[in-house]
Amino acid sequence: MYNLLKGKRGIIFGALDERSIAWKVAERATEEGANIVLTNAPVALRLGTVKSLAEKTGATLIPADATAVEDLEQLVDQSLEILGGKIDFVLHSIGMSVNVRKGRHYTEQKYEFTKTGWDVSALSFHKLMSVLYKKDAMNAWGSIVALTYMAAQRVFPDYNDMADNKAYLESIARSFGYFFGRDKKVRVNTISQSPTVTTAGSGVKGFDGFISFAEKMSPLGNATALECADYTISLFSDLTRKVTLQNLFHDGGFSNMGVSTALMDTFMKEEE
Ligand SMILES: NC(=O)c1ccc[n+]([C@@H]2O[C@H](COP(=O)([O-])OP(=O)(O)OC[C@H]3O[C@@H](n4cnc5c(N)ncnc54)[C@H](O)[C@@H]3O)[C@@H](O)[C@H]2O)c1
Repeated sequence: MYNLLKGKRGIIFGALDERSIAWKVAERATEEGANIVLTNAPVALRLGTVKSLAEKTGATLIPADATAVEDLEQLVDQSLEILGGKIDFVLHSIGMSVNVRKGRHYTEQKYEFTKTGWDVSALSFHKLMSVLYKKDAMNAWGSIVALTYMAAQRVFPDYNDMADNKAYLESIARSFGYFFGRDKKVRVNTISQSPTVTTAGSGVKGFDGFISFAEKMSPLGNATALECADYTISLFSDLTRKVTLQNLFHDGGFSNMGVSTALMDTFMKEEE
């Protein structure tokens, strides 16, 4: 380990179980010397195994629904107190589509579901940053990261309304990131991660086929949750102070590929 986050204080959203990307980030952040607060929706804290992660990392666990501004305000106030000073890094690792969960096709969305999914997956990022900004809760040269997926730029039919939510999320990172940079010297970025086997990921229809497709397409193969955590740590560290307003692809090269020989081979075989 490199002590990259020695003495830094952070808040990590979205660790549900051992597969969660946020879980790996929490483990890696504490290994690198950070003190953290873990948070998730109250229902997730009841269902999940996150208590064991809190014990392992010495973190305090604070329930907060990321769509409720009052919850976020309490979370930030308590975190400042518990951690003993301003925050250096925040991870938004939250996503949920009710349309996906209920099996509604993209062309047949129930718009009440769409609104809820948008609030949870995208607007919550604005709400979180607004609370941090107004409370002046971030240290200068702090770092805020949200996780996203390439369906924000390109068509992945079964990603459903999450594609639109991710496009909105990435736009919030740029728009709010401007004010956070100008006024507080805080950077804001999104990491666009490979498909990863987690509760949220596996909810997408045809996920297994898709993960194999991406693996074959990417010159370095799919990035794992742990590798995503490592990349996130680099963005929380002092080594990336001037990186902001970016959507950073962490996907083994997938996003710049047209076709790979591994995939071509599959089709050539079919032709034989
Ligand atoms: N798994 C993938 O293939 C993949 C790929 C790219 C990006 N991502 C993104 O990574 C992030 C983390 O997802 P994951 O794959 O680790 O899955 P996950 O299911 O482990 O994490 C999603 C988290 O969102 C939390 N959440 C849902 N509603 C909430 C609310 N109202 N308030 C607070 N928290 C709430 C859940 O409790 C859960 O902990 C998401 O933004 C997801 O879209 C995932």
